[in-house]
Amino acid sequence: MKPLQEIMHNDETYYMNTFGKRNPVAFTHGEGMKLFDTEGKPYLDFFAGIAVNSLGYHHPALTKTIQQQAEKVLHTSSVFYIEQQARLAKLLVTNSCADRVFFCNSGAEANEGAIKLARKYFWNKGEQRPEFITLQSSFHGRTLATVSATGQEKYQKPYAPLVEKFIHVPINDIEAFRAQASKKTAAVMLELIQGESGVHPIDSAYLTEIRNICDEKGILLIFDEVQTGVGRTGKLFCYENYGVEPDIFTLAKGLGGGVPVGALLAKEPFCAFEPGDHGTTFGGNPLSCACGICVIQELLENGLIENAEKTGSYFQSALKNISSPLIAEVRGMGLMIGVEMTAGIGKTVQKLLQEKGILAGAVGDKILRLVPPLIITEKEVDIFVTNLTAVLAEVEKGA
Ligand SMILES: Cc1ncc(COP(=O)(O)O)c(C=O)c1O
Repeated sequence: MKPLQEIMHNDETYYMNTFGKRNPVAFTHGEGMKLFDTEGKPYLDFFAGIAVNSLGYHHPALTKTIQQQAEKVLHTSSVFYIEQQARLAKLLVTNSCADRVFFCNSGAEANEGAIKLARKYFWNKGEQRPEFITLQSSFHGRTLATVSATGQEKYQKPYAPLVEKFIHVPINDIEAFRAQASKKTAAVMLELIQGESGVHPIDSAYLTEIRNICDEKGILLIFDEVQTGVGRTGKLFCYENYGVEPDIFTLAKGLGGGVPVGALLAKEPFCAFEPGDHGTTFGGNPLSCACGICVIQELLENGLIENAEKTGSYFQSALKNISSPLIAEVRGMGLMIGVEMTAGIGKTVQKLLQEKGILAGAVGDKILRLVPPLIITEKEVDIFVTNLTAVLAEVEKGA
């Protein structure tokens, strides 16, 4: 049996599949922007494990950090002080609008924490504010509260009854938001660029107005920066692109460069948790926080945020210059880019790119989602654009 066949056999026999029919490839290792499969075939990766592998593969600093930390200690417990946790907290706070941070293991867990923090804030104040407003087509995670927050019925249906009082309003419609915002609203939670729905950035004027309404009505503003945070959009945090600060925000994906780490950050008045209110066994352990420190330092000290901005603009311009009737729109910020194509060809384009050794994400059957490692150069962008142009010509001919 070939290695891939054996992996597929074990997976199909023993794994509780929630992912549907998988892409029939397994990777053994990576280097820089490249991944290699079980047959030794190289792929240029514009998917990065869904916006996770911010430093690419086998990055010298991250590899060394993991090796060195493994030789010392992987996990202790948050009942003790943890040097790496305290250092990563300081690094995030000194480079953001937040005053404090709590670490966890994933995006869903960070958002779950944000929802609980907002509830606890109003509980402390003795205010009855049961409602949350989130956006239609949003994605906030797979725990019960974050599924309830997520504005997509397909993720919610089997889990009713959901957590109550999540109201979903259409993106970029300020009147719809205004109609729901009231003295009963605890918080609004939103993504600045909706990733799972196909890379839809929020309008700047809409966000500014939401901030104003929140201030006016005492509603907390939570940004889910699980996908947009940590340099991805050409700033350390995407809210910097908008000039609008949240009261609470969340991070995960790119923060550990592939090692699971999530974070919940808040300004001081909203740090409402008291001892015993919330917790985690693994969150913020020495290994994950050492990786977080390494990633943030690489971004801040080695120009990767600027690279996301510069190479991201170059990428978007190059995509916009592709002359194909199959491309309807190119949108995004920094290195979070969506290429909307005519309906029905997304999966085919993704498959043909993969045959040519290029990995890209697909949302539904018409949008390519490109979230490459932040170490990408213009040379790799050019390779992508050449291959996409060829694939689109092939699809057009076949249509
Ligand atoms: C914006 C956003 N929030 C939350 C999540 C959930 O993160 P996780 O899968 O780490 O729980 C995701 C995952 O794709 C996401 O894109």
